[in-house]
Amino acid sequence: MSSFYDLVLERRSIRSYSSKPVPLEDVEDVIRTALEAPSAKNLQPWEIIIVQDEKRRKRLAEIAGRQEFVGEAPIILAPVATEPERVMTCDIPAYAVDLSILVTHMMLRAAEKGLGTCWIGAFDSQEAADELGVPAGRKVFTLLPLGYPAKKPERRPRKDFDDVVSWEQYGQNRQEDA
Ligand SMILES: Cc1cc2nc3c(=O)[nH]c(=O)nc-3n(C[C@H](O)[C@H](O)[C@H](O)COP(=O)(O)O)c2cc1C
Repeated sequence: MSSFYDLVLERRSIRSYSSKPVPLEDVEDVIRTALEAPSAKNLQPWEIIIVQDEKRRKRLAEIAGRQEFVGEAPIILAPVATEPERVMTCDIPAYAVDLSILVTHMMLRAAEKGLGTCWIGAFDSQEAADELGVPAGRKVFTLLPLGYPAKKPERRPRKDFDDVVSWEQYGQNRQEDA
């Protein structure tokens, strides 16, 4: 079993999937694990649609600006925000935070099971809602293809620690010990 550290370092966004089916127990396990994610006031403002149907997957890929790989994965998970209007005291929309944590848990649990995912932000949420029969007042948050990776991409570069971290106040460097 990989450590959390290994998982975080090894997870990649997968854009090429094998057609090998994903056992439904594994799909359920990925979701059940993610349901343990924290959420503001523990409101758990989410629902998840599991899409297997090939025609529907291809349609969702079109809705995602023709990112064909989205439809090639044997499963697409579509997390839905049930309260997209709620804003936290800190002036940040709660659903965006809560569902991001949910999806991150799904991605890491999937990776732990040898499954690939790719967060899709480039899609038309209203068109996805129409395709998936999501009622008004709810928002399709992302599309998450899920399947066995056909290719594993290279790690993409990350910003350096010192370029993004300040000490005590914005932009301030660490004070060296005297
Ligand atoms: C909010 C969000 C939206 C994204 N949208 C897309 C997308 O529409 N299509 C895509 O191919 N990758 C998408 N990605 C994946 C990023 O490109 C990817 O995470 C980043 O390049 C780092 O690569 P890695 O995930 O392999 O480490 C998205 C990632 C996030 C977190």
